[in-house]
Amino acid sequence: MPPHLRPVSAGHELVVNGRPFLCRAGELNNSSFSSPAHMASVWPDLARRHINTAFAAIGWEDVEPAPGVFDFAALDENLAQARQHGIKLVLLWFGSHKNGHMSYAPSWVKTDPERFARCVTRPDASALAKVCDYLSVFCVASADADAAAFAQLMSHLAKVDGDEETVIMVQVENEVGVLGDTRDRSPAAEAAFAAPVPPDFIDALHSARDTLNELLHANFPAIASGLRRGAGWADTFGPGPLTDELFMAYHYARYVDQVASAGKAQHAMPLFTNAALRATRHTARDGGVGGGAAPGIYPSGGPVDTVVDVWRLCAPALDFLSPDIYFADYATMCDLYSRNRRVLVIPEQRRDEYGALRTWLALGTYGALATAPFGIDTLPPGDTAFARHYALLRDVTPALLDARRKGLPTRGFFFDAFPPGTNDPSPKQEYTLGQWRLNVERQPVFGHPAPGYGLIILTAPDAFLLVGEGYQVTFSAASSATFTGILRLDEKEVVNAETGEMRTLRRLNGDETHCGKQAVMPSQCPDDGWYPIPINVPSKTRIAECVVYSF
Ligand code: DGJ
Repeated sequence: MPPHLRPVSAGHELVVNGRPFLCRAGELNNSSFSSPAHMASVWPDLARRHINTAFAAIGWEDVEPAPGVFDFAALDENLAQARQHGIKLVLLWFGSHKNGHMSYAPSWVKTDPERFARCVTRPDASALAKVCDYLSVFCVASADADAAAFAQLMSHLAKVDGDEETVIMVQVENEVGVLGDTRDRSPAAEAAFAAPVPPDFIDALHSARDTLNELLHANFPAIASGLRRGAGWADTFGPGPLTDELFMAYHYARYVDQVASAGKAQHAMPLFTNAALRATRHTARDGGVGGGAAPGIYPSGGPVDTVVDVWRLCAPALDFLSPDIYFADYATMCDLYSRNRRVLVIPEQRRDEYGALRTWLALGTYGALATAPFGIDTLPPGDTAFARHYALLRDVTPALLDARRKGLPTRGFFFDAFPPGTNDPSPKQEYTLGQWRLNVERQPVFGHPAPGYGLIILTAPDAFLLVGEGYQVTFSAASSATFTGILRLDEKEVVNAETGEMRTLRRLNGDETHCGKQAVMPSQCPDDGWYPIPINVPSKTRIAECVVYSF
């Protein structure tokens, strides 16, 4: 059975080679994977950084250089190298649409605009219509050709990787949407926009109205009150950019669903697509490097928060939708894309400490199956931000997967670095896990506080696994109790990374628990500042077991 998603108490787990698998991922730069020669020097570095999954792009132009002629030699060599280094792959299919553009479409597609119609933009009536470097999603020939090529890729993977399962998921297209305008204005697009809204779409919106996210209802109140039938998009949903975006979301979703369906028919593994998110901070540069406060600045029609439910209704061949989180609020996006037990995979995020800290929130609170810092193969040699975090994640993966399978409560959190003399940007966190309230705050020191991050698992009614550094936990009984204390806090070390077996390294007490008041998970380099007594013991393993009691 190919890699697949399996429901568990806390959501889903990814099953690879018959066993639950948690990605310690990174996304390669756009074209790195096209060259096995380039990748030969990359694999050892990924392994050194404790990465077990590479998100790697494969371009339509690379696999179908001529119509109907397919070349998978480079892919096969990369598969062999990945296996040799024990690294799994999530392939990114750069087909018709890559950041809105068609730059990875084959030359025989690019040079035939008659057969493969382009998107046309005209941001305002005074502007001239612009034929874009984007394929129009209203072009049947493009959708058919892309779907056929993707089907060939997935059929090839079924043949050469069906047993090995090196490839564990596939992203279909990349950050699709129209840039520079709110919708496509090509002749076929104009005809579709004026034609009656497909009745099946109206039916789907009506049937799902109770589960649609609040943004879609806010933008289109008629969904709840009853949509007009038999009218064009502007007459049904109202004129304006939001309707343009909704129109594009429907048609991009149908296009990508056709491509994904063709591939899944050949090799059924988890498929998804990603979104360049709507964010108040934006870059108006062409190509949509990141962010965008309005459709057309971010790719209009992509699975962003305003229309992600349209994708869920109209692209059933996709198992889930994924946020590329750079400028949008990390926690808000994790919540939106994981809501209602949906699978959370973050294909792109920052690759620095800022990004690494947030990984624990995605994993601990939102059940992420993967978080992939972008550009992991071009990090400066000494940069160890993600390596440090992924080394710890490797050690606690068995415990986290076990907790998810059993439905044990987990939480993840972070405390950002901040300059001395400025306000702490990261508020303390309060959770109720089982019968206990937890107050989780940055570790107090006499010098400048270090960044903090962590994962907490309620492993038994009175016991917690604490992971991470730079924080402390104050417990109180959720019910009425006159006293709550720490019975013991044991620093643990993993003796078998495969099984996650641990043994106690040190019993922590006295200074290390503030005389039993807090379970302190110190940073590995606490700053004692002016204080002459070194009471803050540096963390060694960043893993501890804490047992609490109350009366
Ligand atoms: C988001 C895209 O998905 C990536 O492929 C890459 O182009 C980055 N933007 C660059 O900012």
